Amino acid sequence: MRMRKKKHLDERLAACGAVDLGWLPDGVHDDGNAEQKDLSAVFGNNAPVHLEIGCGKGKFANTIAGLHPDINYIAVEQTPNVIVSAMEQTVSLGLKNLRYFMGNAGYLQKVLRPDSIECIYLNFSCPFPKTRYTKHRLTSERFLPIYRDLLVNGGVILQKTDNREFFDYSLESLTKGGFEIRYVTRDLHNSDVSGNIITEYEQRFLSQGLPIYYLEAVNKK
Ligand SMILES: C[S@@+](CC[C@H](N)C(=O)[O-])C[C@H]1O[C@@H](n2cnc3c(N)ncnc32)[C@H](O)[C@@H]1O
Repeated sequence: MRMRKKKHLDERLAACGAVDLGWLPDGVHDDGNAEQKDLSAVFGNNAPVHLEIGCGKGKFANTIAGLHPDINYIAVEQTPNVIVSAMEQTVSLGLKNLRYFMGNAGYLQKVLRPDSIECIYLNFSCPFPKTRYTKHRLTSERFLPIYRDLLVNGGVILQKTDNREFFDYSLESLTKGGFEIRYVTRDLHNSDVSGNIITEYEQRFLSQGLPIYYLEAVNKK
């Protein structure tokens, strides 16, 4: 089902130009001149860069960027209706270390260089339970080679989900895809992990008393 465009969406997005890296070149939003960004020029420094894919309304990205001014963050989201809220929050907080790409993460290699990212966050990615949609899962074999290319050697994927089947699928897929699983918990909020930042979806699942599944996977090149 196509989502109805929010009122004044274009004007609101235009007002967030300072934090907007633009659309991912997907053939629709592509002028044929897409180039991989020099991230030290984008942020004006050489700090490490972390990437969140599927940031939704940006609670996680804005919180973590505010807590870690020494790290640069890029958040990616394919739904303009929700990313606009994330971007507006970044502008109103005045965060200099958080920028956004709109579009499907499958096109990230057109705009990011190999070995440019130290950490990828996959927070409550859509589980796509039906087998025929497996390729849309953000831990499917379609996406893992992209992450392996973008991540430095030793870079990590940190994944949280409420969905046990998707979690088990991700563990298997990441292992097959060349990642080394370094940490797993099936109950993040009763684990020894500290400093967890609660996302919008996580808040919803916690209030329903559901356990949160969490893994850390290391990119070995
Ligand atoms: C279930 S929501 C979770 C939002 C947020 N991370 C949270 O934890 O509250 C998943 C988000 O991922 C986005 N998404 C799914 N597949 C994507 C893709 N291939 N590229 C970019 N965004 C994607 C969806 O549009 C949706 O906003």
